[in-house]
Amino acid sequence: MRHIVARKSLHRLLEETKNDNRLRRVLGPVTLTALGVGAIIGAGIFVATGAAAKSVAGPALMVSYALAGLTCVFAALCYAEFAAMAPVAGSAYTYAYTTMGEVFAWIIGWDLALEYAVGSATVANGWSGYFQSVMAKFGLVLPEYLQKAHFAYDNGHFVVTNSWVNLPAVCIVVVVSLILIKGIHESAKVNAVMVFIKVTAVLFVICVGVFYIHPGNYIPFAPFGWTGISFFGTPMFGATNAGGDPVGMIAGSAIIFFAYIGFDSVSTHAEEAINPERDIPIAIIASLVICTALYIAVVAVLTGMVPYAQLSKDAAVADAFRQAGLPWAEFIIAAAGVAGITSVLLVMMLSGPRVFMAMARDGLVPSKFFADVHSKFRTPWKSTIAIGVFVCILAGLLPIDALLHLTNIGTLFAFVMVCGAVLIMRKLEPKRKRPFHCPWVPLIPLLGIGSCLLLMASLPAANWWRLLGWLAIGLVIYFSYGLQHSFLGRELRKLHAGR
Ligand code: ALA
Repeated sequence: MRHIVARKSLHRLLEETKNDNRLRRVLGPVTLTALGVGAIIGAGIFVATGAAAKSVAGPALMVSYALAGLTCVFAALCYAEFAAMAPVAGSAYTYAYTTMGEVFAWIIGWDLALEYAVGSATVANGWSGYFQSVMAKFGLVLPEYLQKAHFAYDNGHFVVTNSWVNLPAVCIVVVVSLILIKGIHESAKVNAVMVFIKVTAVLFVICVGVFYIHPGNYIPFAPFGWTGISFFGTPMFGATNAGGDPVGMIAGSAIIFFAYIGFDSVSTHAEEAINPERDIPIAIIASLVICTALYIAVVAVLTGMVPYAQLSKDAAVADAFRQAGLPWAEFIIAAAGVAGITSVLLVMMLSGPRVFMAMARDGLVPSKFFADVHSKFRTPWKSTIAIGVFVCILAGLLPIDALLHLTNIGTLFAFVMVCGAVLIMRKLEPKRKRPFHCPWVPLIPLLGIGSCLLLMASLPAANWWRLLGWLAIGLVIYFSYGLQHSFLGRELRKLHAGR
């Protein structure tokens, strides 16, 4: 019992970073912010916005974005304090190990694996939709059995579609995995080009779209109400849809929360940052502020251009320009969407293997496999391949909406743990050097925990069961492998035997 709640000391953590077999320190503040923006703007704004405005929040989705952004700012301030204090790969997993103990670290590491793998599959799915719409403009259409996921999600049930597999989604995952195996520096360069393209596309949407706004489209502003909260499937506040899921401004926030996922991945690159103490907090907060401003502006433009009920569910941004009589703009946006979503996939798939690597270095998963850094490329190549295969299966077979909700709940859960870890660390090591201080502790971490729980409660109930199922599988693996092989646990057992 004492072992499973054993904590790794921060001192030990920092000592470990001096060992060999580390990643290269090549990332500066601008590259890190670009990685943040690259991870944030993607399928969420380009794909999920349409469905959320159309059937969950209406024009009030602007406020949903502001609420989700604020929630992320609370979590980001907590992330930044930890990332500056313990600048090693592993993110929330590592923070939980030093504050809450091994079993909590395992839970959070396992949860992050879910976030990054299922999130990557979601993004690959969104990429496939945009890619196919661009190809269709050139008359290239795939046979029906290769166009979309094998399963669709219909009112809480999975049903088989007439497609075998989402082939473009699988292909993009394979290509991105190969780029990542080759190396972080090259990946950061590819990312920078794509970030430039997508930020330009987003600015284009805002600057051109603003001239096509009809203020009448903002009325009614919140057609589904201002709340939409349920708890384990029981509606608490606001309306529900035909399937019993909550609708309204807050429910919209829980769905589009996906659009903000990614800023946390900046902290997983701490080990590759040239000056992590200063640059990681800057990059996390800068990328979040930039994206929040852009998102609110995009939603204001979209819901102003097209009555919310007429927004497209699949490619809302591009389609709004088609409806406004600007088909050339539709094509530019769809093409930029492909590039933009690719860069999200790149960063998401970069982060997953790094969490496993951190867990492997502690002996919680097989280290020969997951902590193996390629001798030439210096990347965690084996875990990149393993995660790539898992993501291919998810992306090829499962539909985007089910994947998106699951990613949201997993991420919100991780944020709750990080905010809690900041509070615990302030108690455990009040004197420890903190290059970045989260302001107004305990208020900000408590607001972070409260707002994340609120959004989690507003997601359809099936996601809670899926999250709990995933965590249960993880605990079985921990008790049958991690507990015996943990390096910290072995040391504790030796100490105990020596007494
Ligand atoms: N925030 C990322 C996206 O919207 C995950 O695609």
